[in-house]
Amino acid sequence: MRDSKLIDRKINSLYVHIPFCEHICFYCDFVKVKKPQDPKVIEKYLDKIEIELEAYGNKLEFIESIYIGGGTPSCLNEQQTIRMCEILSKYTNKENFEYSIELNPESVTREKLEIYKKFNINRISMGVQTFDNELLKKIGRIHDNSIAINAYKLIRQVGFTNVSIDLMYNLYDQSRENIYTDLRYIDELKPDHISWYSLIMKEKSVWGRKNMKVPENDELYDEIVNNGLKQLGYIRYEISNYALGEKNKSFHNISYWNNSIFAGVGIGATGFEQIEGKYFLTKNEGNILNYQKEFEELSQEDYYFQIVMMGLRLVEGIDISLDINKEIYNFYQKKINEKISQNLLEIVNNRLRCTERGFNILNEILIDFL
Ligand SMILES: C[S@@+](CC[C@H](N)C(=O)[O-])C[C@H]1O[C@@H](n2cnc3c(N)ncnc32)[C@H](O)[C@@H]1O
Ligand code: SF4
Repeated sequence: MRDSKLIDRKINSLYVHIPFCEHICFYCDFVKVKKPQDPKVIEKYLDKIEIELEAYGNKLEFIESIYIGGGTPSCLNEQQTIRMCEILSKYTNKENFEYSIELNPESVTREKLEIYKKFNINRISMGVQTFDNELLKKIGRIHDNSIAINAYKLIRQVGFTNVSIDLMYNLYDQSRENIYTDLRYIDELKPDHISWYSLIMKEKSVWGRKNMKVPENDELYDEIVNNGLKQLGYIRYEISNYALGEKNKSFHNISYWNNSIFAGVGIGATGFEQIEGKYFLTKNEGNILNYQKEFEELSQEDYYFQIVMMGLRLVEGIDISLDINKEIYNFYQKKINEKISQNLLEIVNNRLRCTERGFNILNEILIDFL
């Protein structure tokens, strides 16, 4: 099907999932468990990741980025952090390699930061969510804003020059003033990159199980976030991602959105791989010490839809001069033209992208492509 080339596309990037958390936040349904008391469980988990990576053989030879996400990668102790970095070190010794790790403010220490640095991690993403202390408690976080600011300053002191902060809006009873306050902190700290997500109420989160709903102020808050960051000099390049300069855009995440091939290791991790010309979504299912990779083959239509769904998240959209994207354009031409006539999509410089209006209702647009 799909790709007639005999040689499968190479894996471009690797995601590594560390599922342990010191605490469980009320909004979160990512794959995670409370950090086990017994350190051996984490050690065994790391052994399992090593075995999983080895099973890829030389297929990971050409990766250009690694993203260690969670869960909370920074909740590993120093010895476990070194073990994790050692396992990954055989893939990272390259020029222009983007190597990111997610940290939670409360578990950032100078010692761990120095280990990350020694092993060539060059991008830090710290989950702050909000700088409002009351709100932090209400969403189930265990840090306060002074812990986050001190962790940020420590990250800079240790010499990291590519630092991202995660924030959320539409949280609980978050007010406009809360968002303006977050913007003032951003102005003061100047992270190189920001991911600012609108809350998605997840059924399996603590809030979802209580049937809580997202507050109804969505569009207004979108505007405050987007205009506020624009005024501070951030370039929006994806629906929820903003960079201070071109070089601060997340290469790893852009590669997901641009239809690249990626592997995911660790419980719950997903991947997108090509095997003997066929495309598969992969997901590691099971429990932390006993999970297996499951493969779901994509039909041609699923594959096209995936490219559209991911690509339209990017402000610059999908490059329709590429062969595969031309195919997609032809396949969806009628729908695309309909959306263009409704001023929801546009084609500019050979790129199919959302208009400003379309960007606000991307999910509704995508439903019509299904
Ligand atoms: C799953 S967390 C992992 C990183 C780290 N443990 C932390 O809490 O920052 C990654 C990011 O996803 C975002 N996130 C998690 N649950 C979300 C939800 N229900 N809606 C929107 N964003 C969410 C948060 O901004 C969080 O920083
Ligand atoms: S948001 Fe981060 S720290 Fe909180 S439960 Fe989810 S993964 Fe763990």
